Amino acid sequence: MQTQVALLHLRVNGEAHPVAAPTHKTLLEVLREDLGLTGTKHGCEVGECGTCTVLVDGEPILSCLTLAADVEGREITTVEGLAQNGELHPLQVAFAERGAAQCGYCTPGMLLSAKALLDRNPRPTEDEIKEALSGNLCRCTGYLKIIEAVKLAGERLAQGGPR
Ligand code: FES
Ligand code: FES
Repeated sequence: MQTQVALLHLRVNGEAHPVAAPTHKTLLEVLREDLGLTGTKHGCEVGECGTCTVLVDGEPILSCLTLAADVEGREITTVEGLAQNGELHPLQVAFAERGAAQCGYCTPGMLLSAKALLDRNPRPTEDEIKEALSGNLCRCTGYLKIIEAVKLAGERLAQGGPR
C-alpha cells in the first residue's frame, strides 16, 4: 500500500506549522516526531490513559486517537504553550508548589485537562475537578495533590491572576 503524504497546515501554540506528513499519522505522532514537541506524552495509544491530551479550540482531546489531518486550521495547545512571556501558567506554579507531579509523565495531559476546566470555571468544586480529570490517569500521586493544585490555581486565577 502506498503511503499518502499531505501538506498539513497546523496551528500549534499560536504559531502556523506547515508540515508534510503521511495522512494516517496521529496528532500525537506529528507533534512529537515532526514538530519536536515532545511535552505531549506517548502512553497507551488506545485512548485509555489521557497522557497524550492536548487542547483543540480549548477542548481536551486525545491526540493518540486524532488524525493530524482532522485538526488542520484549528488552534492546538500543547504543554509547551502554557507558559506565556516566560511566565509559568498558574497551574504549573501550583503543581510545583503542591508537589502534584512525581514522575511527571501524566503531568502535561493533567495540566491541559485542568486548563480547559479552569478556563470555563475558575472555581470548580472537588467533584468537578475529579470529573474533568477522570480521563487522565496518574500512577504516582494518589490524585490528592493534583486536585489541591487545580483548586489553588483556580483561586488565583479567579482573583485576577494571569490568564
Ligand atoms: S496515549 Fe492517548 S490515551 Fe493513552
Ligand atoms: S506523576 Fe507519575 S504518572 Fe502521574
